[in-house]
Formats: sequence, structure tokens, C-alpha cells
Amino acid sequence: MKVVLINGSPRKRGCTYTGLKIIQDRLSENQVDSEIIHVGNKPIIGCTACQKCTKLGKCFYSDDLVNEAADKIREADGVILGSAVHYASITGAASSFFDRLFYSMPSEDLRLKFGASVVSCRRAGASTAFDQLNKYFTIRQMPVVSSNYWNQIHGNSPAEVYQDVEGVQTLEVLADNMAYLIKCCHASNVPVPQEEPKAFTNFIR
Ligand SMILES: Cc1cc2nc3c(=O)[nH]c(=O)nc-3n(C[C@H](O)[C@H](O)[C@H](O)COP(=O)(O)O)c2cc1C
Repeated sequence: MKVVLINGSPRKRGCTYTGLKIIQDRLSENQVDSEIIHVGNKPIIGCTACQKCTKLGKCFYSDDLVNEAADKIREADGVILGSAVHYASITGAASSFFDRLFYSMPSEDLRLKFGASVVSCRRAGASTAFDQLNKYFTIRQMPVVSSNYWNQIHGNSPAEVYQDVEGVQTLEVLADNMAYLIKCCHASNVPVPQEEPKAFTNFIR
């Protein structure tokens, strides 16, 4: 049982990382393995809509960790996306990284894996960024795991994150819920529903 967590903040060990680490520690207490991937602090190219991924089964661009993250997600049971809030949205790096990751991955590598999102902010804009992250799951047949509040942590430094007692609890409950659902799936012999061929109409009919 494994969960891949992706830190979409340019700051490697900042507030988003601290939130993800709180989740990672709780997953570990639940005997679920995990790995945190950092998108890096160098410019990340966004999706250029080249469509080469439809033939390659992976993103054409290989200057960053997008395809490496895809390989790790393929072997995992769950994915947790994290981002700092920049102007009430996810960071530019997170947007570029997650657009290419979720557009290029074949359906069978994502479908019915659990997803959850975490955002860190100093003061406001968390809800819009949180909604933005959850969109990546809900277009790829990934059940979204929730907690007892929207998954947000407040602070401008890791020390401040730990002062957000309610935020810390939200992330710990989220980890417990994801671990429970993953264990349920592993214990079950209910067959996975057959995938339907995708209907694709550009609002023409
Ligand atoms: C360019 C930029 C824009 C930001 N915009 C917001 C914002 O809209 N709302 C907010 O509360 N904090 C905002 N912040 C603060 C960060 O979201 C906050 O400090 C966050 O916890 C940092 O996470 P990190 O350490 O993982 O990068 C912004 C920070 C930067 C650098």
C-alpha cells in the first residue's frame, strides 16, 4: 500500500511540505508507505497541447519530474496533491506540472486510485485553490478522500503551520481516512467496473 504526495510549492521544505509531512507521518502510523515528490524550484513548462502524449503514453517533455511522478503513481494506491496558494490559486509550477501529469497519464494508470488535495496559505484563497486541485481527480475517475474540514493549513513558515491546530488535525484525519479506504480496497474482491469508451463531443450535438 503506497501513496504518492506531490509538493507543488517552489519551496522544498516550506509550509506545503510541512502539511504533506504531517500526512506522511500519519500514513506511516497506519502502515501505509508514502513518498513526497517536489516539483522543484526551476521553471516548469506548461502543457503545450502538442498531443504527443496520446501516442507516447507519457509527456513529450522530459526536463522535469512529470514522467517520473507518473511512474510512481502507476505503482501507488493514492495520490495527494499539495500547493501553496499564490493569488488565490495554485502555484504556477503546480499548474504546469499537474496539467501535464494528468493530461499525459493513460486512464488505466489513474482510474479508481484515491486522490486528495492540500493547500497552504497565509490568510485567504485556500478554497479556490483546493477546488482547483480536486478538478484533476474528478475528471479522471479518482474518488476524492475528505476530512472534517477542507484540507488547508495556514502559516507563512513551517513553525506557524504547527500552530494551526485545526489544520493539523484536518490533515491527520485525512491520512486516516485515505489509509482506511486503501485497506478496504485491498481487502475486497469486488471486481472493478469495466471502463466505458469515452464519448467525446465538443458541444456540437
Ligand atoms: C507569489 C505569492 C502569492 C501568494 N498569494 C497568497 C494568497 O493569495 N493568499 C494567501 O493567503 N497567501 C498567499 N501567499 C503566501 C503563501 O501562500 C503562504 O505563505 C504559503 O503557506 C507558503 O507555502 P510554501 O512554504 O509551501 O511555499 C503568496 C505567496 C507568494 C510567494
